[in-house]
This record gives sequence, structure tokens and C-alpha cells, in this order.
Amino acid sequence: MKVAIIAQDQQCLNDIQKHLAHTNVSPQLVAITGGVQQIQAVMEQRHPDLLLLEGIQLNSGEQQVLSRITSRFPDLGVIILCPPQPQEFLLEAMRVGVREVIPTPVSQPVLIDAVERFQQRMALAKAPLREGEVLAFVPCKGGSGATFLASNIAYALASLENKRVILFDFNLQFGDAALFVHDGAPTTSIADVTRQIQRLDGSFLSSSSIQVLYNFDVLPAPNEPDKAAEIKPEHIKPLLQVARKHYDFVILDIGRLFDAISIQCLDQADLIFPIVQQTLPFIRDAKRVIDTFNSLGYPADKIRLIVNRFGKKDEITLADVANTLQLEVFKAVPNDYSAVAESVNQGIPVTKLARRSAVAKSLQEIAHELARSSAGNGLLKKLFSF
Ligand SMILES: Nc1ncnc2c1ncn2[C@@H]1O[C@H](COP(=O)(O)OP(=O)(O)OP(=O)(O)O)[C@@H](O)[C@H]1O
Ligand SMILES: [Mg+2]
Repeated sequence: MKVAIIAQDQQCLNDIQKHLAHTNVSPQLVAITGGVQQIQAVMEQRHPDLLLLEGIQLNSGEQQVLSRITSRFPDLGVIILCPPQPQEFLLEAMRVGVREVIPTPVSQPVLIDAVERFQQRMALAKAPLREGEVLAFVPCKGGSGATFLASNIAYALASLENKRVILFDFNLQFGDAALFVHDGAPTTSIADVTRQIQRLDGSFLSSSSIQVLYNFDVLPAPNEPDKAAEIKPEHIKPLLQVARKHYDFVILDIGRLFDAISIQCLDQADLIFPIVQQTLPFIRDAKRVIDTFNSLGYPADKIRLIVNRFGKKDEITLADVANTLQLEVFKAVPNDYSAVAESVNQGIPVTKLARRSAVAKSLQEIAHELARSSAGNGLLKKLFSF
């Protein structure tokens, strides 16, 4: 979210910026000293989502400018920061399209609440009209890179393709997906949501998750086995149905163990990405995994095989993998030890930390292709829904 602050002097500007440094939404800030006469230029050049105006009297000239701006940019949020005012002032402010009036001296929690409230409204307004896609990532063997790919592709879909994305960590015993894209200790988990499955809706789901970006949420695995045991197979369908309604992409990091919960997840998925590497033990296990998918009745076009840690010079080629598994290779993600190790160690996605690395480029390509084909699906679904 982009926030423009217009304040009467540098001191006020600094104070407001300091307060905003404590929000969870990490806004992009545009800070300018001056008055309402600056608004037009700021709007046209910087396109903010939210405008914070300090030191406004709301005289008739200012009312005219604000009224013009809020009519021309109806999605813009305007918040005024000024000394406490009588009721009439508040009414005037509303009439010209101001969303909130915050009394000065500004209290940090009040300002943060107002900004986060606006951000949530914005996110809801952008919620998809059609249902999102569920993508499941499954390691064919331990250490294939399923968690790395699920978490980093999820991040790339949100940050580069501007999609609303949620990542669920279904490695219910030893889940670590959140740590690949976030550096704090997780405080919530899927169990907190399934415990109250009857009251689950999009905003409850989003507020129970870790917000990595304003359009990217992560719901970690529980950190204790007894909490994991609370999650039941019958929770999965309603959980994913709500998630589909609220997000463009619902990404599932599924563990190696096929149990009733992971099979529910796979049943609900639109696409499944088994992750394999180019050595025999991986390919042997991949064969078993693909056989399991066949026996579960999943059609071949639901499966998208990814070869991870790909090396052009490796003895086993992509053609060998495809022939042995009787499955086309959807993508090969290059082996890039230093970029990936640094990303995983710091909990910073590789497309952010090492944007130009070969592995980041490959993930960007995958995210782009998924975003493009989901838009195409949407169009087709729309055409055939008449
Ligand atoms: N393309 C890559 N290049 C280099 N290293 C990689 C690549 N992908 C993954 N790795 C490394 O492999 C390690 C294991 O990856 P990850 O944890 O994603 O595997 P997993 O399939 O989820 O395994 P598990 O079965 O333990 O959940 C990561 O910590 C990372 O360092
Ligand atoms: Mg994993």
C-alpha cells in the first residue's frame, strides 16, 4: 500500500513517519511538506492509496480541492490529522469524502489502527470475484525442495504478479514453511483456525495468519503434536473452500506422508506439483508417489512434475526422468546452492534476496505462467458459465 503524507512542516512529517514505522502493513511512504495545494500533483505523479493530511482547517478552498480529488479518485482513502474539532467539522469532512479525522497530538495506536483498517478494506475490495486456485506441492522424497518451492512461488505470485495468496503448511508434525519467507517465530497455526471452523470466514482466516505482505498470508503448522492432532480430515474441505473465496492462490505445502488429511488436501487441489531431483533414489520414490496419484484417480493434467536442483550436466537427463515416470516435466528449477542457502538461512524469499540469480528467475517464470494460466481459466469459466 502506498501512503502519501502531506504535513505543514518537517517536524510533523517526521513524527507521522515514525509512528507509521510500527504498522504491520509496511507501507511505501511519500512524504511532503505543504498543504492541500500539493494534493493534485501527488495524486497524479505518485498514485497513493491513502492520503494523510496534517494541519488542515477545512476552509472552503480546502473543501473544494478535497471534494474534487475524492470524486476523481474514488478509491483513495483520506485521513485528516488536526486538533480536536466540533461535530460540524466532522460532518463537513465526511461530505468532502474524508474517511477519518484523527485528533492531534497523534496517538500512535490510533493512527496505526486507522491505517490498518483502511488497508484491510482495500484488501477486501480487491478480493477475487471468482474462486482462487489450490496448488499442492509434494516432495517425492525428504529434502526435494517442496517447502522451498511452495513458499517462494507463493511469495512471487503475491509480490511480482500482484495476486492475493495464502500458504498453508500441512507438514503437521515438523512444519517449517513460514521460516522460508518470514523471520519471526510463528504465533498462530492451522489448528487455531480449524478449532473454530464453524465461524471461519475470509477475514478470520486472514487475521489468524502471519501477514508477510499485504497480499500474502501464511498459516503455519502447529508447533506441538497435540495441537496437530486437533486438525481433522473433515476440516480440510471447508477450510480450503473459504480460502478459495478470499485468495487468488491457495498454496499447500504437503508432507511426504500420505494420510487422510493430506489426501483431502490433494483431492481439493486443482494442480499437484510433485518435486523430484535427478538421482535414482528420488526417481524411485517419485514413481511410487505418481502411482499413488494414479490409484487415487487423479487425471494426468492435474499433475505438474517439477525437477528441482536441476543441473544440465547431471548424468540423468530431464528426458530420462520424463520417460521413467511417464510424465512430462513441467519445469526444471536450477541448482543454486549459495542463493538458496542464504535465502533459507535468513528467511527471505530468494526472489527478494537474489532477484537476478538463476533460481529466482526460474521461480518468477513459474509464478508468471501460473498467474497467466489462472487468468485464462477464469475467462474460460466465465465464457462457459452462460
Ligand atoms: N533449487 C535449489 N538449489 C539449491 N538448494 C536447494 C534448492 N531447492 C532446495 N534447496 C535446499 O534443499 C533444502 C531442502 O529443501 P526443502 O526443505 O524445501 O525440502 P522439502 O522437500 O520440503 O523436504 P522435507 O521433506 O524435509 O519437508 C533447503 O533447505 C535448501 O537449502
Ligand atoms: Mg518440507
